[in-house]
Amino acid sequence: MSQPVDPTTTPAWARLQALYESLVPDLRGWFAADQSRAKSFTYTAGDLYVDLSKNLINTEILNALVDLADQVGLVDRRDAMFAGEHINVTEDRAVLHTALRTPEGSSLVVDGTDVIPEVHQVLAKVYAFADKVRSGEWVGVTGKPIATVVNIGIGGSDLGPVMVYEALQPYVKPGLKARFVSNIDPTDVAEKTKDLDPETTLFIVASKTFTTLETLTNARLARSWLLDKLRESGAIEADEGAAKAAVAKHFVAVSTALDKVAAFGIDPENAFGFWDWVGGRYSVDSAIGTSVAVAIGPANFADFLAGFHAIDRHFAETELASNVPALMGLLNVWYVNFFKAGSHAVLPYAQFLHRFPAYLQQLTMESNGKGVRYDGSPVTTETGEVFWGEPGTNGQHAFYQLIHQGTQLIPADFIAVANPAHPLVDGDNDVHELFLANFFAQTAALAFGKTADEVRAEGTAEEIVPARVFIGNRPTTSIMAPELSPRVVGELIALYEHITFTEGVVWGIDSFDQWGVELGKQLALQIAPAVSGDDEALAKQDSSTQALITYYRAQRN
Ligand code: F6P
Repeated sequence: MSQPVDPTTTPAWARLQALYESLVPDLRGWFAADQSRAKSFTYTAGDLYVDLSKNLINTEILNALVDLADQVGLVDRRDAMFAGEHINVTEDRAVLHTALRTPEGSSLVVDGTDVIPEVHQVLAKVYAFADKVRSGEWVGVTGKPIATVVNIGIGGSDLGPVMVYEALQPYVKPGLKARFVSNIDPTDVAEKTKDLDPETTLFIVASKTFTTLETLTNARLARSWLLDKLRESGAIEADEGAAKAAVAKHFVAVSTALDKVAAFGIDPENAFGFWDWVGGRYSVDSAIGTSVAVAIGPANFADFLAGFHAIDRHFAETELASNVPALMGLLNVWYVNFFKAGSHAVLPYAQFLHRFPAYLQQLTMESNGKGVRYDGSPVTTETGEVFWGEPGTNGQHAFYQLIHQGTQLIPADFIAVANPAHPLVDGDNDVHELFLANFFAQTAALAFGKTADEVRAEGTAEEIVPARVFIGNRPTTSIMAPELSPRVVGELIALYEHITFTEGVVWGIDSFDQWGVELGKQLALQIAPAVSGDDEALAKQDSSTQALITYYRAQRN
């Protein structure tokens, strides 16, 4: 494995620094002077139309960013990932989410095994299960078909499935619902099950490791809920045999640890496996997406995977100068490291994508929120910006003020589709057109601003003019697609996976481990006895923690 190149020592970095220092951002002037600017900086990848022209770039800057990618070895590292090399060095693992969407018939030998046939065997099992649930062939313990699938998982075993389920609502089989339980706050499982009929509910326990405290606790709570309700109504007897039969009909699992699934009491026949080379936050396209496959059906799930694959091929095969994920990742580096932007907004103008920013938070921040490089040495520049966002137009009425007129530079990605799922009209107005008018108006306003003279020309009193000036030059990327189909959702996810990868390569970090999260898991287990009344354990805590726990114990009824 090659060592990370310190990006700050490359000639391209020095060039970018010089370009940054001499840059006078002027999107108004740049667009006025160059009628072909939009065309020059617009690219396609799969079904995605990506306009980078409202970014603070010119051809020289973009070329220098591409040079930076060359000089840090992006192509080699990308190829190493696709080939199954162990680029996740701290866990000594291959990183092969791209294999999950590689079409049947291909071959990729990793650590002595061809992984593609294995991927398709599991997919076939997931699809057969999905078909059974959807057709009513899979019935609960009392013979009733399933009406609600409840996915129990957290992090990558939740955020992807719930985001995609929400994004693809028009594709969900009528009469079939999915719900998602993630938080160990008992409210979550209680609220999500309170109106469900246990006889028609199927739980999918999704956990890569099958050790995650939240998921196993929620799975046990769900099992108790199921058995209590079935016994209360007389649907099953009180004996262990009846409980086992009910669990077999109402619980399936997704995990890389099938032995632990069996120990939990779920028949391995009803378990779907995956592999340690799939990171949690890269796993929605594995069996972790079973809840989605059930909801939208195997054919749509296959289209979803095809979308990922289209962007994988684009990323793997397109020269860097027009490689959309690479360019978007490099632009993020430009803003984080040169403009010192600490955050990045993702603003979908598509209500169905309302969980997309939350999904991206794990993908990007668990991947690139690192302070050491993959050889253990400290990073040499800022890494890992904060990703956040809300769907437009809701965000416009909440935080856009800060993006337009605040003192921080916040690059933003705007995402929209041409064809809405619900083409409603309000009188003569096509409401989707009004919606998209907001997208276009916002990106233009952020880029071009509003000068004091323009404000004055509206008759504004002089003392209010400064408050109404928009300086502009707020960078945005516009991403559009024909419609929010399964394929396009797959394309969007893969786009951001490879953007994240590109940034990680420039910074020299392992974007595939998550040791920062592991610490929290251990600490919670250590502290739990103190919370439940163990005074010796309490005495070992710091004074603030002791006081908080003491307060809790005094207040708890
Ligand atoms: O948050 C840390 C993490 O390890 C994520 O990477 C993962 O998606 C999540 O926990 C859930 O883990 P598991 O699928 O093993 O339950």
